[in-house]
Amino acid sequence: MKRNFLSIYFIIIIAFLAGCGAVEEKSSSDTGSDSSGKKLIMATSADYPPYEFVDTAKGGDVVGFDIDVANHIAKELGYEIEIKDMDFNGLIPALDSGKADFVIAGMTPNEERKKTVDFSDEYYAAQQLIVTKDKSIKSIEDLEGKTLGVQLASIQEKEADKLLKEHNFEVVQRNKVTELVQEMKSNRVDAAIIEDAVAYEFLKKNKELSSFALPNTDAAGSAIAFPKDSELTSKFNKELKKMKEDGTLDKLVEKWFGVKK
Ligand code: ARG
Repeated sequence: MKRNFLSIYFIIIIAFLAGCGAVEEKSSSDTGSDSSGKKLIMATSADYPPYEFVDTAKGGDVVGFDIDVANHIAKELGYEIEIKDMDFNGLIPALDSGKADFVIAGMTPNEERKKTVDFSDEYYAAQQLIVTKDKSIKSIEDLEGKTLGVQLASIQEKEADKLLKEHNFEVVQRNKVTELVQEMKSNRVDAAIIEDAVAYEFLKKNKELSSFALPNTDAAGSAIAFPKDSELTSKFNKELKKMKEDGTLDKLVEKWFGVKK
């Protein structure tokens, strides 16, 4: 009898220890995910080759210049990145609501956006083009009575509004640049304002489209956006500076834009 009691105690103790072991195991895997808690949520709008786009050949991965820049910086800082792809007009709200740690999307740091988010230093600059399928559109004047497409919540939308002060056409907004291109190809939109590098990507694949420069616009830089007062801003800036100095950024520019800037 005594022996039986002893063995029951023994079993209970073993079971207890095993239980502890299980708990311990669980908590150690928790710490494991803590260290990968060094993960950053990066939001982008992957309608923007060569900055960011969905590579169907690569199983639908989001790839591009911005993605390489972000991955390089994150790696240097010891973070992993999780990409959230969304419409451009959802990016700043995603930062505001804490759904993303940073945004990289060829985004131009303008005064209006600076009221709600912080920006890194600029890492690339672009010019604006008018893209069209309509051979009769060769200048802004030719847009008279036509439809001009822009991406919703972009600086291109602002440019179109400025032009409206002196010209008479209809501005149409779309969530994605890819939609704008589609609509031009099927004659539902006459022309669109698109940044040079992005326009060239679409022109290469759609020979029926052509382009000309939008006059009187300043170069628009791209910068990474963060929630206000994020401690990441200065960390990212340090890495960007290194990338500019050691030629990493130039290499990525060459890889994705095929030119040295
Ligand atoms: N540079 C422009 C802006 O900041 C357009 C950026 C659009 N980016 C994109 N991934 N669709 O408004």
